[in-house]
Amino acid sequence: MFLQIISDIGATALISVILAVILVIAQRYLNDYGICKININKKREVSVKGGSTLLNSLSDQQIYLASACGGKGSCGACKCQVLTGGGPLLPTEKPLLTVKEQQDNFRLACQIKVKTDININIPESIFNIRKYKAQITEILDYTYDIKGITFKLLEPVKIDFKAGQYVQLETQPYGKVKQKTMRAYSISSKPEDTDSIQLIVRLVPEGICTTWVHKYLKVGDEVRFTGPYGDFFIRDTDADMIFIAGGSGKAPIKSILEHLQVVGTTRKMMYFFGARTEHDLYLTDEFKAFEKVFPDFQYVPVLSRCDDGSKWCARTGYIMPYLKDAIKDPKKTEAYMCGSPGMLDACQKELLALGVPQDKIYYDSFA
Ligand SMILES: Cc1cc2nc3c(=O)[nH]c(=O)nc-3n(C[C@H](O)[C@H](O)[C@H](O)COP(=O)(O)OP(=O)(O)OC[C@H]3O[C@@H](n4cnc5c(N)ncnc54)[C@H](O)[C@@H]3O)c2cc1C
Ligand code: FES
Repeated sequence: MFLQIISDIGATALISVILAVILVIAQRYLNDYGICKININKKREVSVKGGSTLLNSLSDQQIYLASACGGKGSCGACKCQVLTGGGPLLPTEKPLLTVKEQQDNFRLACQIKVKTDININIPESIFNIRKYKAQITEILDYTYDIKGITFKLLEPVKIDFKAGQYVQLETQPYGKVKQKTMRAYSISSKPEDTDSIQLIVRLVPEGICTTWVHKYLKVGDEVRFTGPYGDFFIRDTDADMIFIAGGSGKAPIKSILEHLQVVGTTRKMMYFFGARTEHDLYLTDEFKAFEKVFPDFQYVPVLSRCDDGSKWCARTGYIMPYLKDAIKDPKKTEAYMCGSPGMLDACQKELLALGVPQDKIYYDSFA
């Protein structure tokens, strides 16, 4: 009886080992897609080892598509046109692609795997995106949950970007976080400072990247980022400009205003900075000082919770009710907004209701 049990256990263990070996061998051969060719814009061809995502395969070739969520399939930033070789549309892609995009063969590069030769179209501007090595030279505490971090560029030593654009910071493993990931951060310094960039990062409780930035990074550390990305930059017109951004959304507006200070402007501008309480205000003197720099600029903090009668309680609640008086000629107004999707949605609705054309409302959603 005892020998029978031992023999059964032995047989089961042997079968398990054999199955495991077959599985490993099968995986090796079934997932061996060999070398695949990625044809880009019918102009350029790169050869990659099949089996990785399109996003990572391109990144290995120093072609950096935007990937604000780090490849989790939740931001939609990595959209690109896959003409052939992408396989069927996946359920993880559908929610982030409009019907028109699906008809035009747009796909999420972080979701599809390169298993065969593939033909894609990407904007030519992607080829200007570089990977940078940089060193932290300064960390400022702007508020209890917002830091300003300056990075000196080590390699390449210069960056060319438009005020309002963003970079993607690569986090390193720390604590229980075992993998690298990428997150998007708007550049808060002006493009004229070509040998360094500043980012403004708000701590998100339990957030992978912001915890790393706030609790682990220190002056002297080296980091890597890719960029510049995005089309959130001011248009070269004479339209009035309304800026709307709270919290760390102030980053790209800081870059834009510092740039305008260098190049000069006579455009009418107003910046609504939404915050909860007085403790969430920062760089107030610096932004108030822009009122003396530009002929027609106003900095307007609006606090949603302000009941102590301080000077900051002049405008309370949400930003939307204050937009009506700020907009003189809606058809000749451009709006530039960034921050949380909820705030952007609410302000966009109000701007449209006031007659600001949809195509003059520009935004970066920090989702
Ligand atoms: C184009 C663009 C520019 C951006 N620029 C900046 C910038 O200049 N400064 C900046 O601080 N951030 C910016 N962000 C947001 C940033 O990319 C990260 O999403 C954010 O810092 C959270 O990253 P994390 O890894 O710490 O959190 P994650 O680990 O990604 O998230 C942890 C949890 O927190 C939730 N969460 C994520 N973001 C928020 C949030 N903002 N508020 C509340 N809960 C959240 C998630 O749903 C998740 O459940 C930008 C985003 C985009 C797309
Ligand atoms: S990287 Fe965010 S959806 Fe692909």
